[in-house]
Amino acid sequence: MPTERPDLKTQLFHRKPVAMLLEDAAYHEGGLKRALGALDLTALGIGAIIGAGIFVLTGVAAAKMAGPAVTLSFVVSGFACAMAALCYAEFASMIPVAGSAYSYSYATMGELVGWIIGWDLILEYAVGAAAVAVGWSGYLRVILNGIGIHLPIALANAPGSVPGAIINLPALLIVLAITALLVVGISESARVNSIIVAIKLTAVAIVIVVGAFFIRPANWSPFVPFGWHGIMKGAAVIFFAYIGFDAVSTAAEEVVEPQRNLPLGIIGSLAVCTVLYILVAAVLTGMTRYRTIDVNAPLASAFVNQGLNFVSAIISLGAVAGLTSVLLVLLLGQSRIFFAISRDGLLPPVFSRIHPQFRTPYIPTILTGIAVGITAAFLPIQEIAELTNIGTLFAFVLVCIGVWILRHTDPDRRRPFKTPLVPVVPILGVLFCGYLMASLPPLTWKRFFVWLTLGLLIYFTYGRWHSRVSAAGSGVTPVAKQTTAEATSA
Ligand code: ALA
Repeated sequence: MPTERPDLKTQLFHRKPVAMLLEDAAYHEGGLKRALGALDLTALGIGAIIGAGIFVLTGVAAAKMAGPAVTLSFVVSGFACAMAALCYAEFASMIPVAGSAYSYSYATMGELVGWIIGWDLILEYAVGAAAVAVGWSGYLRVILNGIGIHLPIALANAPGSVPGAIINLPALLIVLAITALLVVGISESARVNSIIVAIKLTAVAIVIVVGAFFIRPANWSPFVPFGWHGIMKGAAVIFFAYIGFDAVSTAAEEVVEPQRNLPLGIIGSLAVCTVLYILVAAVLTGMTRYRTIDVNAPLASAFVNQGLNFVSAIISLGAVAGLTSVLLVLLLGQSRIFFAISRDGLLPPVFSRIHPQFRTPYIPTILTGIAVGITAAFLPIQEIAELTNIGTLFAFVLVCIGVWILRHTDPDRRRPFKTPLVPVVPILGVLFCGYLMASLPPLTWKRFFVWLTLGLLIYFTYGRWHSRVSAAGSGVTPVAKQTTAEATSA
């Protein structure tokens, strides 16, 4: 344990110098392998984005919250994400290191906020991955049922979700399989991911193109059955569908020419998905009266209702493929965030150990896989998704604020990508993400506070005493003194 510590207040608000972040990345140049280009990143982004949100949650949002105006929910959520994405892109191009919002907020708002965000991101990545694994298991059941294979209820559902259920074994197994893939290496994983993304995009394209022939415009009326409140409630839930574009930034240390490719990957993948979502939502609510939309497998059911069983089967296969790639990117992101936090000393060193042969952070990858697998095996999906949303929105808010702060505290740092219209874009990001958070249920808020409290306990019992940045002494650079000289020395 380091002997010299700054006083508490100094430590909590001291930022990790951007130069030090970049140095860490350079130091690990021989650690993680740089193998990803702009197209790989866009595929990685789409791989993380299109999943349980559009394939599952659109149904609940349309049937119970927003009606046909769920298309507007997608617009609102998409807008909030676009604002956040523009801020993420500036950070990611300026500080292209593993760790995403954790690293960005450590650099701009100090150690405590950095840690809180790092801890909060577990909700987005690990808890989100658990929710997606449960959704994956559900779609697998639909496909297997279609070919006459019926998994025992006891072994394919979380306890409490249906009578007699004991464990969701398919959810556990898919998490463990992907974990094994990630331990072996990123470029192999990216290749598998690209194939899956192609299958998933085909399924979505089929929904839009084939479904368009079965739209009955009368189904769009009334368009806003539950008012603005319903649109916002729907937006807060289907926000889950957009989660993942920021995952691109967590692979920053594995990207070729990160300054150019990261912003391209983040904004490109978000743009593609937003357009697709709005079209899918319009087709779904045009094909099926909103009240009768199936909340478990809405897209597949809409085609079964038209007698198009074959199309429905293809869509289900696409959904299983889609959810697989979402899982891959979320698990990848989580292990890279643990890696970055541990490298700063806020988590034990075992979290940043790199495999001598595969050059992947295998310990955090395996630990994440086990924790996510167990969560997915024993918990139901809906509430996990809402907890994921509140955690992610909170991270987005902090990133938006961070961009604005860094423009003032470190104006001369090179910014290969600049967020346009600062401070308008960050402010809109904060307002829209904040509004979506406010639209989530009180129970979700309570769980969120419990989670953050747990994180603070860990910080004050472990991280505070092991922080490498604070212990470095010189790393303890007062906020006002982080100078241009330091910035340009990077
Ligand atoms: N956006 C991802 C999904 O919809 C998390 O599953």
